[in-house]
Amino acid sequence: MIFRQLFEPVSSTYTYLLGCEDTGQALLIDAVLPTWQRDLEELNKLGLKLAYTLDTHIHADHITAARKLKMETASRIAHPAADNLACVDMSLQENKPFELGSIRIDPLFTPGHTDGHHAYCVNGRVFTGDALLIDGCGRTDFQNGDAPTLYRSVREKLFALPEDTLVYPAHDYKGRRVSSIGQEKARNPRLGGDKPLAEFVKIMQELKLAYPKFIDYAVPGNLKCGVCPTGVPEDLQQYCEQIGDSLQG
Ligand code: FE2
Repeated sequence: MIFRQLFEPVSSTYTYLLGCEDTGQALLIDAVLPTWQRDLEELNKLGLKLAYTLDTHIHADHITAARKLKMETASRIAHPAADNLACVDMSLQENKPFELGSIRIDPLFTPGHTDGHHAYCVNGRVFTGDALLIDGCGRTDFQNGDAPTLYRSVREKLFALPEDTLVYPAHDYKGRRVSSIGQEKARNPRLGGDKPLAEFVKIMQELKLAYPKFIDYAVPGNLKCGVCPTGVPEDLQQYCEQIGDSLQG
């Protein structure tokens, strides 16, 4: 499998490129609107054709590039069935592996950050979305999030994977790129070790995070598989603009 971890700096999101060496087909996990051109350039360089975009959940901090990439390349939009989006071409579900050439993806239903969140297991790697981050986890105070549900998703499903499974999160704000199930199980300060549920719930309640500044635009846009809504204020336009051009200098 051809693999790339790509970074989108506006929302600190990791986009993952997975390519099949046999068929030349590729998919992107959590592609982000401002970097859709960069992603296509990367695919071109690797000689791959985009077949699918997948999202782990309905994001509140950025707009997915799924729709834009479909318009540009005729790729298909795959998304968890649990979110019940009308714009989806392929619905994903736990226990229903999704295959693209020689790549097999096993969706894992991991609610708690959002109620429809899925992680994707691919041959020794797990793309954990916002359920499990390196030394952390996604917030649980919006989008039908629920701390006890996230606790169970992480500890009963993600921590049940083999310990050497590589953990690739949807975000990192400190430049960390990869971890492992064994490492998070042992060391994750919120969910690792023998952390009891009550303590995790207390940690999440006491985070006192600011209201997500782009959520009121991102969620409606992502319910349509990636439309930048009208009326986005100027200081948030960077979430909608294409930054692929400027990267070429
Ligand atoms: Fe999220």
